[in-house]
Amino acid sequence: MKTILTGIRANSVLTLGNYLGALLPMVRLANKYSKTGEYQINIFAPDLHSIISEVDGDLQENILRTVKYYLAAGLEINDNVHIYRQSRVSAHSELCWILNCVATMGETARMTQYKEKSEGRESCNVAIFDYPILMAADILLYSASYVPIGEDQFQHIELTRNLATRFNNRFKEVFVVPVKTSEQVKFMGTDEGIRIRDLLNPEKKMSKSTKAENSKIMLDDAPERAAKKIMSATTDSLGKVKFDMWAQPGISNLLQIEALTTGVPLAEVTAAWAGETRYGELKKQVASSVADMLRDFQTRLAEVSDAQVYELLEVGEKYANEIANAKLLEVQKAVGLR
Ligand code: TRP
Repeated sequence: MKTILTGIRANSVLTLGNYLGALLPMVRLANKYSKTGEYQINIFAPDLHSIISEVDGDLQENILRTVKYYLAAGLEINDNVHIYRQSRVSAHSELCWILNCVATMGETARMTQYKEKSEGRESCNVAIFDYPILMAADILLYSASYVPIGEDQFQHIELTRNLATRFNNRFKEVFVVPVKTSEQVKFMGTDEGIRIRDLLNPEKKMSKSTKAENSKIMLDDAPERAAKKIMSATTDSLGKVKFDMWAQPGISNLLQIEALTTGVPLAEVTAAWAGETRYGELKKQVASSVADMLRDFQTRLAEVSDAQVYELLEVGEKYANEIANAKLLEVQKAVGLR
């Protein structure tokens, strides 16, 4: 059986960008593959990654809410789907240490996320630097071939592949090397990674850390408020609706949001709007799709109980510890620790 694995850091309420770009595609993928009987689906809360930076409010509540997001997004649970918390499987930290001995300072320092987060700061914790190595451990422990995540994390997948290959060559063929990001993208069924843009500055990714409220839509925004934010999104003065992220990032972002909130393929949405010159019409449509989606999502979220989540975590963590500990033992033997 092949393994599909993903996680999303739960440091706050997520943005519509996190949801449409990472969480929802993952749920659609999981539902498609878990039923085939040929794939294991692992979804985990990277809580050790969460404590690297500030957490909004209580971490436990954030974890619980993030697991609920998956369920509210429609994740179907069956025997091939497991949900767990990273810190409940101690093999993650242990493998991270061993991989630290294989990774080089140079390759880790090249990671864009590290560069962005450390630049211009007087001090920066070591974990920001080590972040992708722990991520590699998260993936390699479960022999995951597919790791559907947002485009900003692709570099970390390539690093994981390099570490796994190097380890296999240096010690023993222990790790399954995840597939290349170009193939990950094909597997996800998108032409490229999905990156929902900032509504006011569509050259940038939508991010919860952006100050301007109208730049981002949060999953707990009132639907009417979210609709207003779409109406005030930055577009351009070209006067034609066309999907071209480079020349028309604002319009392209709206088309992308429309496709993902309605579940209609992007190519169809784009074709339906081709030739339209009035951006107001498009905005109205997208605003109403986003409001409808949020209304639905928020209703379903309220229906998921804490007890339901804890039950899933208990099963998931038992399973995860078994798989991860077996792989860790292989690794420890390969390097001579056992
Ligand atoms: N870095 C991911 C994020 O920011 C979370 C994550 C940690 C992850 N480890 C992972 C995702 C392993 C996929 C696989 O959301």
